[in-house]
Amino acid sequence: MAHIIIRPDWYLAEKEATSERVYWERRKFLKQLGYGGASALLGMAGVSSMGAAEAKAVYPYARNKDYNPGWPLTNEKKASTWNNFYEFTTSKANVHLMVDKFVIDPWRIDIGGLVENPLKIDVRELIGMMPLEERVYRFRCVEGWSMVVPWTGFPLSKLIEKVKPKAEAKFVKFTTFNRPDQAPGMRRGYPWPYVEGLRMDEAMHPLTLVTTGVYGKALPKQFGAPIRMIVPWKYGYKGGKSIEKIEFVATQPKTFWETLSPEEYPFESNVDPAVPHPRWSQATEEVIDTGIRIRTQKYNGYAEQVAKLYAKG
Ligand code: MTE
Repeated sequence: MAHIIIRPDWYLAEKEATSERVYWERRKFLKQLGYGGASALLGMAGVSSMGAAEAKAVYPYARNKDYNPGWPLTNEKKASTWNNFYEFTTSKANVHLMVDKFVIDPWRIDIGGLVENPLKIDVRELIGMMPLEERVYRFRCVEGWSMVVPWTGFPLSKLIEKVKPKAEAKFVKFTTFNRPDQAPGMRRGYPWPYVEGLRMDEAMHPLTLVTTGVYGKALPKQFGAPIRMIVPWKYGYKGGKSIEKIEFVATQPKTFWETLSPEEYPFESNVDPAVPHPRWSQATEEVIDTGIRIRTQKYNGYAEQVAKLYAKG
């Protein structure tokens, strides 16, 4: 914990100001390009379907060093070739080789359920509306590996403010695309589509990030293009990839992994070294690029920010 320097209070205030500038500059930038015509570029397509230079151009203003705690980043190539995305394959090293047929432009996203202002919108338009920023987060997979990654995105709370949930809304449900013709793993007998969920207070927490980019570029397909969730104090599977639907609901949604094995993958799933997975210890984690095994931290190192959400009594 000692070396974590995320300070949500002042950080957010400062970020607001930067984001505003970023927002207008980026709009100008998109306009210059001709919003409708340049869909591959504006489409935030993954690097697998656009040149690196183009991909970079989409995010020139997103970087903000203030929120980078200075941790060494996980090697980009390693992180981009070690993915969990069961819609394609259960082999982490092969996901990036199997995403060619996956169509991410156009991409409609439906935000609704128990809200005052439902929104059905192309994801590019949504991204254009939101203040993007870059955040370096720890990422801990339930399988016992971890990485440190610079994500680009916007706090889910900003979207929640726009759609205005009704008082009955207690949970947020995230649903991934369902297209077995584009994703061969979906022909296997899992409870598709991939569903995840958060309590409303977890969804509103400033660390909860709607994520549209990584390593300063639009999300490559294997990372969950064009839009995914990152909830850094929970195991990685709580962050659904390639989301098509965000719904505000009254009851706790049944998630993909919970449906498969509720004992092993409960709804809450906060990172906790003291609570072993039924089949392995969670006390340590292997950093994917160095292979070094380090101690896992409670709430993945974010206890200072999130422990209050789970305080009893
Ligand atoms: N989202 C979808 N739609 N399908 C998946 O299989 N796997 C989860 C999560 N989100 C998964 C998903 C798991 S187990 C992890 S660890 C992370 O995505 C992996 O994210 P990464 O490949 O970007 O590192």
